[in-house]
Amino acid sequence: MARIAFAVPAAREDALVDEAFDHGHEVVARCGSADELASLLEPAAVEFAIVSSAERYLTARLLAEADRLGVRVVAINDTDAGRRHAITLGLHEVVDGDADWARIDAALLATPLRSSAPTAPSGRGRVVAVWGPAGSPGRTSLAINIAAELASAGHTVALADVDTYSGSIAPTLGLLDEAPGFAAACRLAGSGALTQLELERIAQRYSSPHGSFWVLTGIGRPSRWPELSASRVSGALDACRDWVDYTVVDTGFNLENDEEISSDVFAPRRNAATLEALRCADQVVAVGSADPVGLSRFLRAHVDLLDAILTDRVLVVMNRLRAAVIGAAPARQVTQSLERFGGIVAPVMVPHDQAAFDAAVLEGATLYDVAARSPARVAISTLVQERILPSASKRRSQRRRVPLLRRRQAAAAQPAGARPD
Ligand SMILES: Nc1ncnc2c1ncn2[C@@H]1O[C@H](COP(=O)(O)OP(=O)(O)O)[C@@H](O)[C@H]1O
Ligand SMILES: [Mg+2]
Repeated sequence: MARIAFAVPAAREDALVDEAFDHGHEVVARCGSADELASLLEPAAVEFAIVSSAERYLTARLLAEADRLGVRVVAINDTDAGRRHAITLGLHEVVDGDADWARIDAALLATPLRSSAPTAPSGRGRVVAVWGPAGSPGRTSLAINIAAELASAGHTVALADVDTYSGSIAPTLGLLDEAPGFAAACRLAGSGALTQLELERIAQRYSSPHGSFWVLTGIGRPSRWPELSASRVSGALDACRDWVDYTVVDTGFNLENDEEISSDVFAPRRNAATLEALRCADQVVAVGSADPVGLSRFLRAHVDLLDAILTDRVLVVMNRLRAAVIGAAPARQVTQSLERFGGIVAPVMVPHDQAAFDAAVLEGATLYDVAARSPARVAISTLVQERILPSASKRRSQRRRVPLLRRRQAAAAQPAGARPD
């Protein structure tokens, strides 16, 4: 049993209070604003606070007071604006408005105290494209789980399926795919009508206590690929940059520039969507399968990738790493082959982890949600923390742990040119 306080709109309060009682908790305060709740946390010995993410109920002062007293806070959110507000304040424990009590409980227990605010990507949102050669190296798996890890770090995220050959995000996550969200976004972008409101209408939501994200599903019937022309794809991704912090794009495998092999310059191009997404992306995660066949496919296709985009934006990931297919010390062997035959340095390894991926597909969920401790999830989480999220956010959060006074003293002791930025 826990001592819970609420600061939510009156219309929701009774139902939530009933749920809390039904689950054996004691409701010690029902507040109409963040200020009221902040002043009651200590006298009412509150252990958990459940607030709406609207500004009236969630303020920096409330969070500071909650941090001081060790009170865990979870925000209930109905809009992306609310999520942004919570995240801006550094509160990552945000559940969707329709979440049941089990979700709220999970969020309350997941993280003891709010973590430091992530640094929003500078200015507009970033686009991360996930690409890989033919042979199912794990593009979709990587895209889904990179999106999940970015969302769990407190960012707003959209996952877009741009694969014109075998779009499969919807079936992998157990979402409806009769109305392809990304094709709808492209059509609206083509007519200049793709607003944030429209994006939220056509996207589906993957809900998770660790961090929910939007999904723009792909075309289930490959015959619809002409809807994804280059200019529409770049228009849609451009709108996504104003909508969310990160747009993760699952692309097709084919990099052939069909423009060059077709005589009809106005004919639509099947590979245009992949090529355009790669050109628009700030970062490209290039995924290969870490076995002899996969490596050789990857090395050949990697050359074409570098023809299409700049090298410094590419992060190479070798997926399904296992000794059984490549021999002892597989990471070393794969790393050496990539460097020797492709000049590729510092690749990221994701282990073969059948049980975890099978469980994820069975549940239609992310690795974080079904197998948080699995080696593949740990590898993808590290990849996101170390290679995708801005290093500034890491530096800043590390710095925050040092008391302000000590930081000031340290800065004063250094010559001006050597001071950290
Ligand atoms: N690291 C891994 N370990 C085990 N199975 C994996 C791993 N990565 C992907 N898979 C599985 O491989 C299959 C193909 O992955 P998918 O992501 O759909 O490939 P692609 O999008 O490249 O075609 C899926 O069944 C997926 O669950
Ligand atoms: Mg795929």
